[in-house]
Amino acid sequence: MAGYLPPELIDQIRDSNDIVDLISEYVPLKKRGKNFVGLCPFHSEKDPSFNVSPDKQTFYCFGCGEGGNVFSFLMKHEKLSFPEAVKLLAKRANIPLPKESFDKKREEQLDKLYYANQVANQYFLKNLYREVPGAKARRYLKRRGFDAETLKLFSIGYAPPEWEGLINHARMKGIEPKILSQAGLTVPRTEASGFYDRFRDRITFPIFNLSGKIVGFGGRVLNDKDEPKYLNSPETPIYQKGKLLYGLNLSKDEVRKKRSAILVEGYIDLISLYQAGIRNVVASSGTAFTQSQARLLSRYAEKIFLFFDADSAGQSATFRSVDLLFSEGLEVLVVSLEQGGDPDSFVRESGPEAVRERIKNAKPYIDFRYESLEQDFGQLSITEQEMVLSDLAETAGKITEEIRKSLFIKKIAQRFKVDEGIIFKLVSKTSKKISGGVKTIPPPITSSGEEKVERGILRILMEDGRLVKKIAGGLSTEDFSTAEHREIFQLILAGGRVSPANLLNRTDNEKTKELIVQIANIDLGSAELFAQLKDHLAALHRLKKNRRMKELKEEIQRSLQIGDRETADRLTKEFEKLKKA
Ligand code: GTP
Ligand code: MN
Repeated sequence: MAGYLPPELIDQIRDSNDIVDLISEYVPLKKRGKNFVGLCPFHSEKDPSFNVSPDKQTFYCFGCGEGGNVFSFLMKHEKLSFPEAVKLLAKRANIPLPKESFDKKREEQLDKLYYANQVANQYFLKNLYREVPGAKARRYLKRRGFDAETLKLFSIGYAPPEWEGLINHARMKGIEPKILSQAGLTVPRTEASGFYDRFRDRITFPIFNLSGKIVGFGGRVLNDKDEPKYLNSPETPIYQKGKLLYGLNLSKDEVRKKRSAILVEGYIDLISLYQAGIRNVVASSGTAFTQSQARLLSRYAEKIFLFFDADSAGQSATFRSVDLLFSEGLEVLVVSLEQGGDPDSFVRESGPEAVRERIKNAKPYIDFRYESLEQDFGQLSITEQEMVLSDLAETAGKITEEIRKSLFIKKIAQRFKVDEGIIFKLVSKTSKKISGGVKTIPPPITSSGEEKVERGILRILMEDGRLVKKIAGGLSTEDFSTAEHREIFQLILAGGRVSPANLLNRTDNEKTKELIVQIANIDLGSAELFAQLKDHLAALHRLKKNRRMKELKEEIQRSLQIGDRETADRLTKEFEKLKKA
């Protein structure tokens, strides 16, 4: 949008959107005298003190003092910036906004990418419903329990086992190969020039943005033996994985109505629940849950039900997402499943009523933590108790609203039967700690800078232990600067599950245990994991090199002072060599 809009245009946009109409879309209003009243959306109340005046075209809440015009309502309610609110209301009133030519060009470029995805989706749909090669894909989807209506609603398709099927189809539609590749639908050939189709012999799940445009795909194999199980579109100018939630385009009204969302991990979990009539669902598919996704949810919901697989991966997903959710002012409840279960199989085996029951009985996060301890809290060692409490205190520290934070702390104290003062102390202690880790830029050359990067590396490997193989040779145990880091790295190297719970079980060292928990709580960035890992490795090697050079310099100076030329020469050579490397 243009950086500058004339004030008359802004006035025109404001005047063309009636405030009663607009607010009624979000809050049920009743006429009372000249005004309209309803329950205030900005604080919780039983009796309506939220007033909307059609004459003045303003709103005001006598309960919390919130007030303003159409722009401020949207900014506050939808967490929009002023330009975003203006843009939305202009659209609502069909008022065209002037565009800068730069924006226009970019928009045209993006439109090409949307179009490429749309054409790809048509191609995948056509292939699913053709006798050859679609029959086996349709059989698979039937076996997974999806009915025709669901397939249509989610636009599920099938990418045939061809190398240039989509490329040829798109060419007929006038789409250049360059655009297909920018949209992530093709992959450049390594041996020759040109491209091939990214999705081959896979069920395709288009990923829609909030305006209902396709921005990418998830592609699932038909045979569970094939790898990888899912192949997803890469990030593109129209698809930023960490900023989007799968299914939200369909579920947003229901989420808003219920003020709550059920968060699942998989495409299939979401589709199954939706088909069963449980419609306030979203999935974080394709990426670890991010802060932006939490913020997005907070625009629609107040309460989030975490409904993850009942295995350690699901549990670590829970631990990872809570802080992000709490920091956006959301309330977190955890839905329980029997070991080995996932939302999709649960709803298919037990039906929607059973799911509703589980959701009704979902546990507030603190209770969930209390009950998921392997032993009674009282039986744990002091260190373990402190770990659990400081972990919860860290979560508490993420709550921005003061009253809510105090209530949360109080509840921890009650549940774990400890003094409230202890928790308050832990909270102030943890919030002072620099939130070390993956997202932070390595600080200057101190050993703690290295430690931070090392923890970032361990955090990434805990997310996907298989990455260790991909960096073979690029990292060895000796690269870690503390005994605990080396031990954790060894545990990961040993293979098997790398969930925090599992790693904790495999060590007796209290200090290592504490670190595992700390590391597991570091936020991951939203970039692709392997890319993050490579960045971290580069940072680590750079830090180590700088430290070694500094050490050498000091030693050289010392040798010169005591007249030991021989050592000084030797060290200088080493210094020069390192500098060049
Ligand atoms: P089913 O196993 O068919 O029930 O699918 P699901 O959607 O339930 O998958 P699962 O619970 O195994 O994984 C959850 C989500 O993680 C998936 O929907 C994908 O978004 C993602 N995912 C799973 N496996 C892979 C993989 O091999 N590669 C990538 N990139 N993502 C994956
Ligand atoms: Mn599943």
